[in-house]
Amino acid sequence: MRVLGIVGSMRREGNTGRLVEAVLDGAKEAEPKVRVQVVHLADLEIGPCQACYDVCAKLPYKCVVKDSFQGLLQKMEDADGLVIGSPLYFQIPSRLVALCERLVALAFFHDVRKHKGAHLLEDKPCALVAATGGGDPTDVFRYLFGFAMTVRMDPLTIKRYPYYGVEGRGDLAANPGAALDTARELGRLLADALDG
Ligand SMILES: Cc1cc2nc3c(=O)[nH]c(=O)nc-3n(C[C@H](O)[C@H](O)[C@H](O)COP(=O)(O)O)c2cc1C
Repeated sequence: MRVLGIVGSMRREGNTGRLVEAVLDGAKEAEPKVRVQVVHLADLEIGPCQACYDVCAKLPYKCVVKDSFQGLLQKMEDADGLVIGSPLYFQIPSRLVALCERLVALAFFHDVRKHKGAHLLEDKPCALVAATGGGDPTDVFRYLFGFAMTVRMDPLTIKRYPYYGVEGRGDLAANPGAALDTARELGRLLADALDG
């Protein structure tokens, strides 16, 4: 069973990465067969959708723009579950917006052109985490939850605020509070939701 963690922060060693790693640790604790991989969007080049209305309109989940998106899409398809982490950058970082925009365009054409078969990420369980400098993470979760649903993933919820995932505020290396423990709990839920 494979779980892919996507760190949307532009900092490799930041709070978002800590939360994503904690979810992955929880998944491995709950299910030793889980194998994890982490991708940092800071290491990738992903540009916006070019609105060419061409390749993705004809071929399911194919995009004409050649950048790091293709490789990441393959990793997402290969994974049985995903963890997506974002910092609050007023809303979410522009590179993560670009990733979501590219995927949403493929999902949109899959529907309107009535392409055969399921959506590429259909029913994959997806755990969401958000890091902020102290502000409220609602905007991050609203964006990521909407994105996950639009591409037909199955976003997990928890039984306490902010419900759509796990938040961490401030410097989690110095003051983790309950955030990393709650993220590990979310990882255990994710492991339970994996098939097989
Ligand atoms: C461009 C930018 C915008 C930010 N906007 C906010 C904000 O509106 N509210 C907030 O609480 N923190 C804001 N922050 C702080 C980050 O959310 C916070 O430092 C977070 O831990 C960053 O994640 P990272 O540690 O993974 O890099 C902003 C940071 C950046 C770089």
